[in-house]
Amino acid sequence: MISLEILVIGSINIDYVSTVEELPRKGETLHANSFEDSAGGKGANQAVAARRLGAEVSMIGAVGNDVIGKKLKESLEKEGIDTSCINAVDVPTGNALITVDKNGDNTIVVYSGANFQLDNKWIDDSERLIERSDIVVLQLEIPMETVMYSAKLAKKHNKIVILNPAPAKELPEEIYSYIDYITPNETELYKLTGIEENVEMASKELLDRGAKNIVVTLGEKGCYCLGKVGEYRVDSFRVEAIDTTAAGDSFNAALAVALCENKSIEDILKFANAVGALTTTKKGAQTSLPCMQEVNEFISKK
Ligand code: RIB
Repeated sequence: MISLEILVIGSINIDYVSTVEELPRKGETLHANSFEDSAGGKGANQAVAARRLGAEVSMIGAVGNDVIGKKLKESLEKEGIDTSCINAVDVPTGNALITVDKNGDNTIVVYSGANFQLDNKWIDDSERLIERSDIVVLQLEIPMETVMYSAKLAKKHNKIVILNPAPAKELPEEIYSYIDYITPNETELYKLTGIEENVEMASKELLDRGAKNIVVTLGEKGCYCLGKVGEYRVDSFRVEAIDTTAAGDSFNAALAVALCENKSIEDILKFANAVGALTTTKKGAQTSLPCMQEVNEFISKK
C-alpha cells in the first residue's frame, strides 16, 4: 500500500459500449457485434486505477438520484475509495456512448448529466479531502469553473496538481500556474496550443504559459515529457490492443501513484506507459484497469 493519498475530482459515468468491425461513417447505421454497460467516467476510472495500484484514494464527484448513480457510487466504495464527498443530485447520472472497432480504437459521446452540477461550493464543502491529500488529479468532464477553482484551492494547500485535459478543450490562461503536470494526448495538445505535429514546440508553449511539467501521451510511441523535471522520451510497451478505452485514465492514475513513490522520472513514465498499455489489452473502462501485481509481472516479463 502506498502511504500517500490521491484525491480525484471528476466525472462518474455509466458507459454503454458497442463493438463493431469498423467505426460508423456519417449517416451510416451498423449492427453491433456485442453490447455491454459498465462503470466509467474519466474521474472514476482514474480513482479506481490509482486504488488498484495501491494508493489511498478519495473522490469528489456527482451522480444522479437514480438507480445507476447509486450502483456506481457503491462500486467505487467496494474498490475501497472514500466516496463521502460524492453526492447525488436531481439530474440523471452522466453516461457515455462508446463504439469500439476491431483494432481497439473508439469513439465516445459523453452526456455530462449530474457531473455538471459539481460546483465551487461543493469543492469548498469538501475542502478537508483536499487538505489531507498529497496529489489532486483533475480532468475536464466537470465544469471548467470547478476545475479552475479546485486547482487553485489545491495549490493554496501546496498539493501536487495533475490536470488531464480530456476531453479536449481550451483552458483559461490562469489555470496553468496551478498545474504541476498537464497530460494531454496529441489531439488535446493541438487543441490547447494550435500547434500541429510538433510535440516539443507545443509542449514548450504550455511551459511558457506557466505549467511546470508537460507529459504528452503518444499512444504506440510512448510519451514525451518536458519541464522542471527535464526532457524525456520514453517508449511504449508492445501489446495486442483490443480496446483503448481508459488507457489515458490509467496512465494518469499511474503517474500520480508513481509520483507518490521515490522513483526517477524515467521510471515513473515507464510505469505509467506500462499501466496504459496493459489497460488496452482488456475490454471496457474500469473492467480493464490492472492491479499492481499484474503491472509488476508485465514489466518484469518485458
Ligand atoms: O476515458 C474513458 C472514459 O471517457 C469512459 O469511461 C467514458 O465514460 C468517458 O468519460
